[in-house]
Parts: sequence; C-alpha cells; structure tokens
Amino acid sequence: MSPKPCDHHKETQFSCADIGVGLRPTHYPYLETRPPTRVRWFEAISENYMDSEGRPLAMLELIRSDYPVALHGVSLSIASAEGLRPHYLAQLKKLTDRIEPFLVSDHLCWTGLNPSNLHDLLPIPFSEEALQLILKHVDQVQTTLGRQILLENVSTYIQPRGSVYTEWEFLTAVATQSGCRLLLDVNNLYVNARNHHFDPMIFLDAIPAHLIGQVHLAGYTDMGTYLFDTHSRPVYPPVWELFEHLIGRIPNVPILIEWDEDIPDFPILEQEALKAAQIWETHYGHADSEAVPTMVL
Ligand SMILES: [Fe+2]
Repeated sequence: MSPKPCDHHKETQFSCADIGVGLRPTHYPYLETRPPTRVRWFEAISENYMDSEGRPLAMLELIRSDYPVALHGVSLSIASAEGLRPHYLAQLKKLTDRIEPFLVSDHLCWTGLNPSNLHDLLPIPFSEEALQLILKHVDQVQTTLGRQILLENVSTYIQPRGSVYTEWEFLTAVATQSGCRLLLDVNNLYVNARNHHFDPMIFLDAIPAHLIGQVHLAGYTDMGTYLFDTHSRPVYPPVWELFEHLIGRIPNVPILIEWDEDIPDFPILEQEALKAAQIWETHYGHADSEAVPTMVL
C-alpha cells in the first residue's frame, strides 16, 4: 500500500495543508462508519497495535485502507543506556511492514530500565556521550526498519546535569549526524521554554527547516508554577503564534493535532485541525482547485 488520498477527501473541499489527527479508540465507533472527514491522515500509537490481532489492528487497517497513516511510538527508548530491545524492534518492524506508514516516529528520550517500561518520556542530558549513544541507536533502528525515522522533542520538568548542548543544538546534531528527521512538537517546545525559562523563538528559529519532517500541536495544562503537557485541551494561543511563525518555513510538512485526555467528539478534534489548515492558508493561499480542491472553513 502506498499513501493515497481517500475517496472521502474527494467529497470534501481541501487545501494542501497536510493536517492529521491522532487515531484514538474513543473515536473507533464513529470512524468505523467511514464518515467523510476533512483530515488528510491519521497518526496511530505504535504500541497500541504491536501486540494486537483483534479489533484495534482491524480498525487501523480499515483507516489505512482510506488514509495515509503515520506510526508514532512511545516506548522505543532511543536514549537507553541499556541498548534497544530486540523484541520491541522486531514487533515494530512487523507492524511497519503490515501497515506501510508514511512516517515512523518516536521520542528523543528514555522510558525506563529493563525489565520496566515506565510509559513516561524521561529527559536526557544533552551531552556528547548521549549524542553518540543516540546516533548508534538511530542507525540500528533505521537499519532494522529499512527506512528513515523521526524523533520528537519531549516536554520536560527537570534538566539533567551534564548538558553541553542546548536542546535545539542537540536535536539538530542528532538529525544532521544520524540522517533521521525531527518531529517538532511546538507545544512541547513552548512548555519547555516556560518551564526552563528560555525564549521559544530562539529554539524555533535554530532548527533548520529541512530537518523538520512533521509537526505536532497540542494543549497543555497550566499548573501555576509550571506547564504540564497533558494533551487535554485545545491548542493555546502562544503555541498557535509559534506555529504561525514556523509554518512560513515549512510549506510541505504534515501537521498533527494531538489530544489524549478529555478527548472531544471527532468533529471538534477535526475543527482544531482545520485551524492549523487556516493558518497554513494565510501563508500559502488556496491550493490548485483542479488538483486539490480548496477547503472552506
Ligand atoms: Fe507530540
């Protein structure tokens, strides 16, 4: 299977803004009816389908028959000092061979020590030692999967000692030296800027556009003394402002809305994605109406 627009898209007016949303079980009953939607692709959490032969995988294959799908992992643990888990890599390889996603991504973090996987995206020091370890692991993953991967910047609440790079220097070094691409989460970038007191614009402008292969947008929760990356709310205005600044440099990058707690009905999630499309259109106008009909918001 190669990525293809679905017939639903032909029924709907679209711009070229490549907007997607996360595939979540709460929306399965709605999506099973194969309703017309105005999103162009879905992102699925890899681990939710790696051990499944039942309804989840059947649902993913149904979606995949209509839309391009990206696989987004949360347990690769690319920065693990213990090395990558062969069984996990084998499962991921099996899933990617089955689904043929147009993107495969995970996070620039570690997630525990054997035999425990904490399901938390734990921060790493931006050190030379960590960089060399991650470069080795990215090569191992890309060789195993036979394809390029993307790594996402994560939200953090502490800063481990030992960093000799800034976060943006480290991300750039990982992508440049490993050949992977970056999944730039603008919400995470803003959360870190607030939590660690730096100017988010410096981070944003420092990442070379050609290294950015996907963008995430989401909502945080303001805990008073820090921002918590909950994915439980609409995207906040400061994050939209950063996205608007960024989008002028990346016309052809897939954009995803993440919403993982207090998940609204699908049409509300869809509307949030359309806000991103509207910002895209302020920069690039409407698409060729012959090839890709213009979306009406
Ligand atoms: Fe994200």
